[in-house]
Amino acid sequence: MSAFVAPALADDGDEEAVEQTLRPRSLDEFVGQERVKEQLEIALVAAKARGEALDHVLLAGPPGLGKTSLAHIVREELGVGLRTIAGPAVEKKDIAAILTSLEARDVLFVDEIHRMSRTAEEILYPALEDFRIDIVMGEGAGARTLTLDLPPFTLVGATTRTGLLTTPLRDRFGLTFRLDYYDPGQLAQIVHRSAHILGVEIAADAAEEIASRSRGTPRLANRILRRVRDVAQVRHQGVITTEIAREALLLLEIDEQGLDREARDLLHTIAGKFDGGPVGLSTLAASLGEEQETIEDVYEPYLLQLGFIQRTPRGRTITKLGRTHIGSAPPDTAAKLF
Ligand SMILES: Nc1ncnc2c1ncn2[C@@H]1O[C@H](COP(=O)(O)OP(=O)(O)OP(=O)(O)O)[C@@H](O)[C@H]1O
Ligand SMILES: [Mg+2]
Repeated sequence: MSAFVAPALADDGDEEAVEQTLRPRSLDEFVGQERVKEQLEIALVAAKARGEALDHVLLAGPPGLGKTSLAHIVREELGVGLRTIAGPAVEKKDIAAILTSLEARDVLFVDEIHRMSRTAEEILYPALEDFRIDIVMGEGAGARTLTLDLPPFTLVGATTRTGLLTTPLRDRFGLTFRLDYYDPGQLAQIVHRSAHILGVEIAADAAEEIASRSRGTPRLANRILRRVRDVAQVRHQGVITTEIAREALLLLEIDEQGLDREARDLLHTIAGKFDGGPVGLSTLAASLGEEQETIEDVYEPYLLQLGFIQRTPRGRTITKLGRTHIGSAPPDTAAKLF
C-alpha cells in the first residue's frame, strides 16, 4: 500500500497478511463496481475463448478500492502466471529481464505505474504493442540493436492518478477502468464478508455503522472492523453491536462522515490559518507536515466528493459545507459577531 494512513488506523504489523485473507478471489466475490466487473468479465471470457492474451488493463482510482485485488482476480480467472513489480522501483534492465521471462498469456502487474521512470517506460512501448523489445548492445559507433520477440502477455497497470500517466503509455491500454468509491450498502456487504472470514459475529446495524464511516473505501472498512473487533474482544462479549462499533470509532477519532483527525486538521488549516483559502498545495502540505501526494491521493478525493473543499486554479478553498462540518464560521460572519 502506497499511501499514508492515519496513525490510529495504521498498519498493525500483519496488515499485508490480513489483506491477503480478506482479498476477494474471484469476480463473484468482488463486491460492487458492477460496470467494471461486467466489462472485464466479457473481455476475459472472449480472450479465453480465443486462447489469446487479454488486452492490457489499466486500473485507476484512489487507494484501497480494489485495484490490486482485481489484478489478482484477472490472473486467477485467466489461470495464468503473475509477475508483480512496483512502478517506482523498476529499472530499465529489470524490465527486459522480467519481460523475457514471461510465458504466453501471463499477467505482468505494475503497481503505481505512474511512478515508473521514463526510460523503463520506453522499453515497454514496443513490448506492449508488438510484443518485442529492443536491446542496445555496446556503445557509440559499434552499438547494435538486438530485437527480442516476447510471448503475448497482459500488462495490468494500477494507478491512483491517471493524470500523471504519459499519453503514449495510456494509449496502449485496451481496457481502462476507473474504480469509484463504494456506497454504504456495498461496504456493509464487504464488512459482513470480512467478519465472516475473521470469524466474528456482527449485527446488521453495526456493519452499517462501520460502512457509513469508511469513506467509501473497502480497505478502511476492513481496518475499522478489525479495530472494532479488538474493542469487542477486550471490553465486551459476544456479537458486535452498534454501541461497540461507536465506542471503537470514538477511540479512533473517526467522525460521522468518516473523517479522521488528519482530514479534519486539513479542513481546520484551510479555514483558520489560510482564511478559507485559496491555498496552494505545496503551502498546505508544508503547513500540515504532509506529503503533497498524500494530500492529493488520500484526503482530497473524498473531501472533494463530500463537497467540503474545492480545487481552484489558485489553490484549495474550504466550502460552506466543510466549515459547517468542523464548526468554523467564515471570516465575514465571524467579523459580524463583534
Ligand atoms: N470490491 C471489493 N470487495 C471486497 N473487498 C474488497 C473490494 N475491494 C477492496 N477490497 C478489500 O480492500 C482491501 C484493499 O484493496 P486493494 O489492495 O485491492 O486496493 P488498491 O486499490 O490496490 O489500493 P492501493 O492503491 O493502496 O494499492 C483488499 O484487501 C480487500 O480486502
Ligand atoms: Mg494496490
